[in-house]
Amino acid sequence: MSSDSRSLQSSAVIDEAVQTLRNGGLVAIPTETVYGLAADAKNPEAIKKIFTAKGRPSNHPLIVHLAAPDKFDQAQVDWLPILTPWVRDLSEQALKLIEAFWPGPLTLVFKKDKSVLSELTGGQDTVAIRAPSHPIAQELLRKFKGGVVAPSANRFGKVSPTSATDVRNEFEGMLDLMVLDGGDCEVGIESTIIDLSSGDKAVLLRPGAITPSEIFAKTGVKVYQPGELDDGQLGNDLPKVSGSLKAHYAPTTPLRLYQPGRVLDALSEFPDIKSRVAVAVWDSESSLVLEDRPSTDVEEVIVSSDPTTFASRLYRSLRDLDQQGWDLILFPEPPTGEEWDGVRDRLQRACFGSGPSSSSHDSN
Ligand code: TXA
Ligand code: MG
Repeated sequence: MSSDSRSLQSSAVIDEAVQTLRNGGLVAIPTETVYGLAADAKNPEAIKKIFTAKGRPSNHPLIVHLAAPDKFDQAQVDWLPILTPWVRDLSEQALKLIEAFWPGPLTLVFKKDKSVLSELTGGQDTVAIRAPSHPIAQELLRKFKGGVVAPSANRFGKVSPTSATDVRNEFEGMLDLMVLDGGDCEVGIESTIIDLSSGDKAVLLRPGAITPSEIFAKTGVKVYQPGELDDGQLGNDLPKVSGSLKAHYAPTTPLRLYQPGRVLDALSEFPDIKSRVAVAVWDSESSLVLEDRPSTDVEEVIVSSDPTTFASRLYRSLRDLDQQGWDLILFPEPPTGEEWDGVRDRLQRACFGSGPSSSSHDSN
């Protein structure tokens, strides 16, 4: 993100956004991960508007976004007074994660304070919280002086927006929706989510830019994969993480992954596709050599082999390719390794949900 984009919105516009939130309205806001559709976390009517606008089932919980402590305000130098109105108890472990990674792309799930509206937690007794680092989001939150719920500003199951224009395209019909423009999102995929609510173990619910090894290196806190704790603690039927549904983050053009060097195999799975195929190719590899593709018009799109850069452009590429009228989009299978987990997760779900009608999938 350029420094220019950080100042795309004047203070007056942010004041207007604060007023809109206070009046129970929705405002699309930039964060460092993706754009969010924000509402006052204490206003049940405003929260309902989010579910309606997104077409999201009401039992899918939202993340509460909070302002970071103001270093210049002596009355508010630490996280404790900021969090206590929202969470029942704050462990040592939680404080370590917060000190190390907030504000930033890390969401933590806690047992909720009883005052937290069940409309935002999907009826669960836990609440997800994060402090975004984007300066416009922080300015808005500081001025608003309260919690703001903000799911990604896309229709349910679709690709998350990483620019103000994406948000406008996503909610074309909502002409009066206020969209704060904070430029292109730096991280590009949604925050890492860690569940701290089920006792003393931290569990990864959604992989993101901040990985378990980075967390361990900076804090000494071990983060478990959900499968590692097979004690039934996590086993219930509630969709704790809507992004955990198989189909999500999906373009309307069919999207598939190919194994290294296996583009032709992937193409042969689609014998009907005779025309236009976009094939993403690692920038570290030489151009594809496609010997036998008589009737297929294949065009290469270069993608970064650095996971951070790849993530920052993933949704941008999917949206752009989706607009270009391809019959099929092929992406290379990301390498193994934790630093690729967030990207692999999003790509796999995008593949599963892709295609003109995703009505057969479980995200609808
Ligand atoms: O990066 C992000 O987290 C973005 C930006 C806008 O902040 N927000 C975002 O929100 O991704 P959303 O609603 O698209 O995804 C939030 C995820 C959902 O999958 C939801 O199920 C999960 O967080 N979540 C919310 N509350 C939860 C809870 N109490 N327990 C478990 N998961 C929860
Ligand atoms: Mg989302």
